[in-house]
Amino acid sequence: MSSHDLVPTPRNLHFDLPAERICDWYQHCRYMSHWSNSLSIMAPVFERFVIQAIRAHESTLADVPLLSQQVKALIDQEAVHAREHRRYNDLIDLAGLPATRIARRWQTLLHHTLESRWVSNRMRLAATMMFEHHAAMIAGQELRTRKNTPDMEPRFLALWNWHALEEIEHKSVSFDLWRHTLAPGPVRYGLRTSTVLLLSVPFWYMIFESFLRLIWADRHSTEHVHGAWRLAKYLWGPHGFFFGNSRGWLAYFKPGFDPWTDDDVALLKPLEQDRL
Ligand SMILES: [Fe+2]
Ligand SMILES: [Fe+2]
Repeated sequence: MSSHDLVPTPRNLHFDLPAERICDWYQHCRYMSHWSNSLSIMAPVFERFVIQAIRAHESTLADVPLLSQQVKALIDQEAVHAREHRRYNDLIDLAGLPATRIARRWQTLLHHTLESRWVSNRMRLAATMMFEHHAAMIAGQELRTRKNTPDMEPRFLALWNWHALEEIEHKSVSFDLWRHTLAPGPVRYGLRTSTVLLLSVPFWYMIFESFLRLIWADRHSTEHVHGAWRLAKYLWGPHGFFFGNSRGWLAYFKPGFDPWTDDDVALLKPLEQDRL
C-alpha cells in the first residue's frame, strides 16, 4: 500500500486552552508565541478556502471511491481545524490583540485575489495544493524540532501537534485530486508551479504583517531583544524555518514532484499514541 492510499482520520478534538498563556505559551517567549499565533489567525480563513476549492471538484469523484473518501476526510479535518483555531483566536482577541481585524485582512486579500470571479476553480485547486504542500512541509519540520523543545504549554502544544499530524496525513489529497482532474503535461505543470510564484510574496508579506501587528499590540513586554533574536534564529537559522524547508520549497518545482517523496508517515504513529 502506498502512502497515497492513506485515508486520513478526522479527530473531533477540543482543546481547552488556557487564556492566560496566550501571549507566552511558547517557552514563555512572546515573539515565538505570537509567530505561531499569527499562523493560527490565518488558519480558519484558509481552511474555509481549501474546503470550498476542494468541494468545487467533488462532482468528478463518482468513479474514484478511495479519493472520494480521502476528500471527505480532508474536509472533515479542515472543518475541525477551523473550529479549534477560531476558539484559539478568540483568546487572542480576549487578550486585547487584533486577531479579528487581522483575520478580516486575510479575508479581504483572498476575496480580491483567489476568490475573485476571474479565478477559475482549477486555479483555486492549484493554490490549495500549494498551501497544503507548504502546510505539511512546515508541519513535518515542526514535529521533528519540537520533540526537543521543552517548556511549551502542553495544551497549545497538543493543538499544534494535532493540526500538524493531520496536515501530514492528508498532504497528498489535493495533489491526487489535481492529477485526477487534469491530464499530465506542460499546462498541469505550469499551473501548479505558477501558484508559488504568484502567491508567495503576498502570502509571506501578510504573515509578517500579522506577526508585527501582534507584537506591536503586545509591546509592553520587556523581552524585545532576547525574543526577537530567538525568533530570528528560529526563522533564519541554518536548520530554521526557511532554510530547513528550502529543499521542500524547491522540490515543488520538479516536474515529477510527489508530496510523499518526503515520506514522513512514520511521524504519525508515535504522535497519535503519545502526544495528543
Ligand atoms: Fe488544517
Ligand atoms: Fe490541510
